[in-house]
Amino acid sequence: MIRNGIPGSSRELPVGFMDSGLGGLSVLREAVRIMPAEDFIYYGDSLNAPYGTKEQEVIRELTFAVVENLMKQGIKGLAVACNTATSAAVRLLRGMYPELPIVGIEPAVKPAVVSSHGGRILVMATPMTIAQEKYHALLEQYRDQAEIISVPCGGLMEFVEQGKFDGEQLDTYFREHLMPFLTEDTETIVLGCTHYPFLRPQLREFLGERPIQLIDGSYGTSMELKRRLKVKDLLREEGRKGEVNIQNSSGSQAMIDRSYELLAMPF
Ligand code: DGL
Repeated sequence: MIRNGIPGSSRELPVGFMDSGLGGLSVLREAVRIMPAEDFIYYGDSLNAPYGTKEQEVIRELTFAVVENLMKQGIKGLAVACNTATSAAVRLLRGMYPELPIVGIEPAVKPAVVSSHGGRILVMATPMTIAQEKYHALLEQYRDQAEIISVPCGGLMEFVEQGKFDGEQLDTYFREHLMPFLTEDTETIVLGCTHYPFLRPQLREFLGERPIQLIDGSYGTSMELKRRLKVKDLLREEGRKGEVNIQNSSGSQAMIDRSYELLAMPF
């Protein structure tokens, strides 16, 4: 059967999630919370991570390959749960799969500005996200409303990929890369890469007593995904418990195990 142009018995299909690695699981856990009846396939491209320090063309090709793989398995909707892949490829993906509900994620600048009291907003993201036109257009919208400073964080996602959550190294990273941007009036830090929400506890500890709010786009993205599925009448009936199938291009069982652990992390 073809429904909404998507082959198969669409409502019963899983929702696809992709990221350059394990970061998108911070979005998936939110999606599972708000859509518990759905099945999900999560594909982490850890073999090719990081995306955030690669050229736009390379990121596009990698993203297209992952999405094609998910399409072959059969999905009824797609979340590009990676800020970097979203800024490089989401527009093109919508052109390639016009019938498929597709959501991307972008740094949560809007909620940061809306809740701001005039203080500085820092946006931590990959160098590639920060270099992209999509991000510049986003900043342009809020330029007159707040002081927004971009903090390129090359090398930070690797802590999550490698499961290195403790220790000096992370602290040193924050001291070297974040500290120079922290001012007395810094009010909000936007976690503009889906890996970073997993580092919240360590970041909080680093920030100490500073009253800085940390925000990310997982909730907004998951709600938008739900809305788009609903519009196409693709949401499953409530009352069942969906399943999550995690796949990873590294072929490593340890990565799969770490993925399920991250998904189960309290947030
Ligand atoms: N998780 C990805 C993001 O949200 C990027 C990590 C990377 O591959 O550099 O931007």
